[in-house]
Amino acid sequence: MDPQEILSLCKRRGFLWPAYDIYGSVAGLYDYGPLGTAMKNSIENYWRQLYVLGEGFIEINCPVVAPEPVFKASGHVDAFSDMYVECNSCGETYRADHLAADKHPNPASLNEEQLGKVLKEIGAKCLECGGELTSPKRFNLMFKTSIGAGRGKVAYLRPETAQGMFVNFSQMYRYGREKLPFGAVQVGRAFRNEISPRQGLLRLREFNMMEAELFVHPEDKTWPKFKDVKGEVLPLVPNSGDSRSMSLDDAVNEKIIRNEVLAYFVWLTFKFAVDIGMDPKRLRLRQHIKTEMAHYASDCWDLEAELGYGWTELVGVADRGSYDVQAHIDHSGADLTAFERFEEPKEIEQEVVKPNFGALGPLFRGEAKMVSEALAGLSTEKVKGKKEVTVDLDGKKFVVPASCYEVVRKIEKVSGRKLVPHVIEPSYGVDRMLYAVLDHSYVKKEDYVTLRLKPIVAPIKAGVFPLMPRDGLDTIALEIFDELTRSGITAYYDDSGSIGRRYARMDEVGTPCCITVDYDSKDDHSVTIRDRDSTSQIRVKKDHVLEAVKALMDGVGFESLAKMK
Ligand code: ATP
Ligand code: GLY
Repeated sequence: MDPQEILSLCKRRGFLWPAYDIYGSVAGLYDYGPLGTAMKNSIENYWRQLYVLGEGFIEINCPVVAPEPVFKASGHVDAFSDMYVECNSCGETYRADHLAADKHPNPASLNEEQLGKVLKEIGAKCLECGGELTSPKRFNLMFKTSIGAGRGKVAYLRPETAQGMFVNFSQMYRYGREKLPFGAVQVGRAFRNEISPRQGLLRLREFNMMEAELFVHPEDKTWPKFKDVKGEVLPLVPNSGDSRSMSLDDAVNEKIIRNEVLAYFVWLTFKFAVDIGMDPKRLRLRQHIKTEMAHYASDCWDLEAELGYGWTELVGVADRGSYDVQAHIDHSGADLTAFERFEEPKEIEQEVVKPNFGALGPLFRGEAKMVSEALAGLSTEKVKGKKEVTVDLDGKKFVVPASCYEVVRKIEKVSGRKLVPHVIEPSYGVDRMLYAVLDHSYVKKEDYVTLRLKPIVAPIKAGVFPLMPRDGLDTIALEIFDELTRSGITAYYDDSGSIGRRYARMDEVGTPCCITVDYDSKDDHSVTIRDRDSTSQIRVKKDHVLEAVKALMDGVGFESLAKMK
């Protein structure tokens, strides 16, 4: 569907407004109006239903601003960039890979030099003035800021919500009584200083994410609920080029999806998209090729939807391995490991730090015992090859020369081992999901627009109309309106204009049903319920309206409702 038509409806009917419009607006920043906000909330709440209630993931909420070391460790300061080219005449900038989108199968997989070559070959010019373009240069997408007055501390707005969950691994692990696997989610804002956001909701500079991080034992490749879904067939586009629809079971057995855990969450992602109203025939799951993957990923499957803009990524389901947790261990020194208890204690030979008390005594005197204990607790990786090591005891730092300790091998009886968890991450873009639902629900017949939104995401669940705003019809309609809203169902009361016009206004914003009170209602205590998609109507007792609307919201079809009455 033509994006301009969808965006114009969104603006006109209060789904979406360009932000700061009275100051000329800013590309990549949008406000959600009342209908957009309600729809966004519904998408997020259904997502929580699947991940938090359905899968038992815990939900946390972290700040959007973080000090530089967090993103230095995660690799974003050094590697989170896209390539841009600039017009030598008018100064317009473009994301370099997007200029080659129709001319190369996967421009995102190319480096600066390769992409520069492709752009030359296809004769790319400025789309505004036809001017010559510079060669591609890298641009870091993070918004930089500072925390505190004066020089402050360098900080960044988060480009993903994920890091908040990685740095909190130990807190969450303890909260969950120290068991793997466990999952955490975060729903919130992320910020990317995108190079040339020209695609409405698809490329925002401030956007909304729903991210899940599943922490698993590194060797665990199985998933208990996989057996329930293994026969499900998904449209897969593996990086081998062998695209086809296949069952999850086949995909795992043929090693197309690397294990059951990843396969289960790829399936859940597809299910979520269909449940909120996307057309399964216009969805596919595409595996990244190696050079296209983010710096932290070892495998990634994107859920893509066919939209008016072409095939578009909505979700990335990535295998991040131990990359992030290990990076935060290395940079912060914190122990972000899980503990695996063996069934029986085992005797194993391992390297340990052995303090040399003879050397520590004269140097640290009364504090030598404490320093010795701190040394014995260090991992050997921390001391190997160093001339000295610093230990911190209640905020007091002791610099200990290498002559005060050695690394020795020792046979010890151990009850378990520490391990760095692996992470599977489904990362959903809320705004792109919302847009894709609008695109797939937009039906136009001879200038009559209906948004066929599923009740679960429709911002208004029912319209309530008195045929006339008088003669007691308005009183009955307002009673129905109150009953619905008191039960948590968003309804819209409208008593002005022709009934046809009122239906049309509701159809255009995707309201699944409308309830009309007419003169007969006063005698037979019944009202008409009209179905948006078939436009068919049934008569139900006024006392049964709430039950009927609830049934529609629970997915009972209008035809079945007609039989129920
Ligand atoms: P693209 O290649 O389109 O830039 P990406 O690969 O950078 O996307 P991810 O880093 O995997 O995207 O982010 C996860 C999800 O967040 C995406 O699937 C998308 O839905 C959403 N997302 C990412 N960037 C934006 C953005 N600028 N505006 C809106 N949503 C975004
Ligand atoms: N957390 C996934 C991403 O931002 O790429």
